[in-house]
Amino acid sequence: MTVKVSAISRAVLAGLLAAGIGASAGHAADDSRLRGWTLARQLCSDCHVIGRTPQPGTFVGPAFLRIANMPSTTGPALNVFLQNHHQRMPSLRLDRDEMDAVIDYILSLKGIEGLAP
Ligand code: HEC
Repeated sequence: MTVKVSAISRAVLAGLLAAGIGASAGHAADDSRLRGWTLARQLCSDCHVIGRTPQPGTFVGPAFLRIANMPSTTGPALNVFLQNHHQRMPSLRLDRDEMDAVIDYILSLKGIEGLAP
């Protein structure tokens, strides 16, 4: 996928790099994922299956596992998605940290199998 590197995605990339540097210093990446999972459970789980196995309920949005494994899903793409308005998904006002954590969590599902189609 080619993404035009706009000012916004540059800022995003800087944020991701900063997060990466934090990760090499310890378990920051794991912490961020865990925080992302906690946030996802609170904010996204009404509409999305957020883990490897579906939590009980009915979901209007695609499972995070499926989203994570779409080739088009990258950190910057998720950033853009979460900062824009959507017809069928409400705008969620996450702050920068929360957004990064949720994105870390979703990306951590890449390559994981589970969830029947
Ligand atoms: C009220 C229901 C609802 C909530 C809450 C919700 N979503 Fe969604 N989400 C949707 C729907 C519906 C779609 C499909 C949108 C579409 O196809 O236009 C979607 C799509 C998405 C996609 C894009 C998938 C793609 O096709 O590219 C991502 C990423 C996503 N949601 C992330 C989140 C995250 C992260 C949260 C929590 C912070 C969240 N959503 C909370 C309903 C919701």
